[in-house]
Amino acid sequence: MPDLFDMLAPAAESMAEGAMLLRGAALPYEKDLLAALGDITSQSPFRHMVTPGGFTMSVAMTNCGAAGWVTDRAGYRYDRNDPGTGRPWPAMPKCFLDLAVDAATRAGYPNFRPDGCLINRYEPGARLSLHQDRNERDFANPIVSVSLGLPATFQFGGLKRNDPVKKYALRHGDVAVWGGPSRLFYHGVPELKDGIHETVGRMRINLTFRGAL
Ligand code: SIN
Ligand code: FE2
Repeated sequence: MPDLFDMLAPAAESMAEGAMLLRGAALPYEKDLLAALGDITSQSPFRHMVTPGGFTMSVAMTNCGAAGWVTDRAGYRYDRNDPGTGRPWPAMPKCFLDLAVDAATRAGYPNFRPDGCLINRYEPGARLSLHQDRNERDFANPIVSVSLGLPATFQFGGLKRNDPVKKYALRHGDVAVWGGPSRLFYHGVPELKDGIHETVGRMRINLTFRGAL
């Protein structure tokens, strides 16, 4: 049986210097996050973007906040507008911001104030190959990454693409934070296994908070 300490402060695991995995940190926000997500996607729906090389991504994406991450034949970048609607991305909901600041603070980044959140939707079979998050202006900001829905494997490597990767099972409510010496570490998610999550359904949702602009 978990003792009171475990219930108040869910486990934190170190993934690397500057990188923490906060198990269950999003659970207190779950209902608010899912409701806010519905508002966001009714304004800026999920879509499969195209890489500069011409591949359609298996992960569907949208964004909220001042800056949204986009890719098309012209390249990867942040845009204040949703290219699909021509309008600004939906505002970042307060519960998104509160969770991101709370998790970053617990991981040692108390000054983090994200201005963008990339929202990834993985359906069974979707994957994100190893990459660095490097389109942001200031790498002093960490990345805060929230997992909801079906479980996934998170691959977390090093500064070089061929550095060995560690694998972590990310479950509903887990939050990964990486910054400082691990800010530019390669990471990815192999093919999502099929399943049904009791509240989120047949998908995994990932919220990735950035200081983009
Ligand atoms: C990302 O790197 O943008 C997403 C990582 C994840 O889905 O956990
Ligand atoms: Fe990433």
